[in-house]
Amino acid sequence: MLIKKPSDVRPSEITSKANYLNRRDFIRAGTGIGGSILASSALGAVVPAKRREMLPDLSASPFSTDEQPNSYEDITTYNNYYEFGTGKDDPYENAQDFEPRPWTIAVEGHAEKIGTFDFDDFIKPFDLEERIYRMRCVEAWSMVIPWVGIPLADVVKYLAPTSKAKYVAFETLFDPSRMPGQKRRALDWPYREGLTIAEATNPLPILAVGLYGEVMPNQNGAPIRLVVPWKYGFKGIKGIVRMRFTDRQPQTSWNMAQPREYGFYATVNPNVDHPRWSQARERRIGAGIFASKQPTLMFNGYGEEVAHLYKGLDLRRNF
Ligand code: MTE
Repeated sequence: MLIKKPSDVRPSEITSKANYLNRRDFIRAGTGIGGSILASSALGAVVPAKRREMLPDLSASPFSTDEQPNSYEDITTYNNYYEFGTGKDDPYENAQDFEPRPWTIAVEGHAEKIGTFDFDDFIKPFDLEERIYRMRCVEAWSMVIPWVGIPLADVVKYLAPTSKAKYVAFETLFDPSRMPGQKRRALDWPYREGLTIAEATNPLPILAVGLYGEVMPNQNGAPIRLVVPWKYGFKGIKGIVRMRFTDRQPQTSWNMAQPREYGFYATVNPNVDHPRWSQARERRIGAGIFASKQPTLMFNGYGEEVAHLYKGLDLRRNF
């Protein structure tokens, strides 16, 4: 994976949660729930957006951190999404005209409810929740992101995998005419990821459809992406078009590209260094260029909820 020099990092302001909540109230009052808005400086948003749309009322979650979320600008302009280019600002620059509709999700393999679902029908049975999670990238930077999504566990239970299903695999859209980065073989497309069924039915992972109370920006993985907060960010596959329940550990993109550097489990672990850099500390995006790196937490701080999943598994070997 590419790493940016600190001099490339934008020293942007962090939006406090209070400002964030005020901004949400302001947007609601001005546009009505679900109404479309154009981003404007009056909203405190510095990112020009063609279309920004609020999501309906969201329930809060006890799993949210009370750490200060990163600004909307940080979260939507400093991205990894190789389908739109390998630079950190490429996804923001190149994904603005992407149309995440119509969109279908194919559900395949060992489950009772298989088939191809229209995106809106796919998420309709579930309530949207806000989950404010830390995200730790394997490149040793981190953010705090107020996602909006549906618990993956609810989706998996609804799709009713059979006893043969041991894993769930995910795939991103492959369409080089819409995703210009796919014209080059930066990765073996389509982007692929996977979880064990035990991981997928843990309460923490979500299928995210928005952030900051708004519909998911293209560069963050519209219309739907995975968020698994105790794993390195590359597990959070964007632009999902396929879920497959399987009895075999699925192939995953970064493991296929560099098997000695990226594993299937990819749990955040400050004690297991990447072969080319330390994982002990992380740079919090938006903290400013003079801020010191902060210690990385085992399982990104979510050990209480997930450590039991790995009992008996040597995460130093199965990284
Ligand atoms: N999903 C797809 N399809 N393609 C990608 O290149 N990059 C991953 C992950 N999901 C990626 C992807 C990596 S390396 C990270 S760190 C996160 O997305 C970044 O998510 P963000 O840009 O929303 O912060």
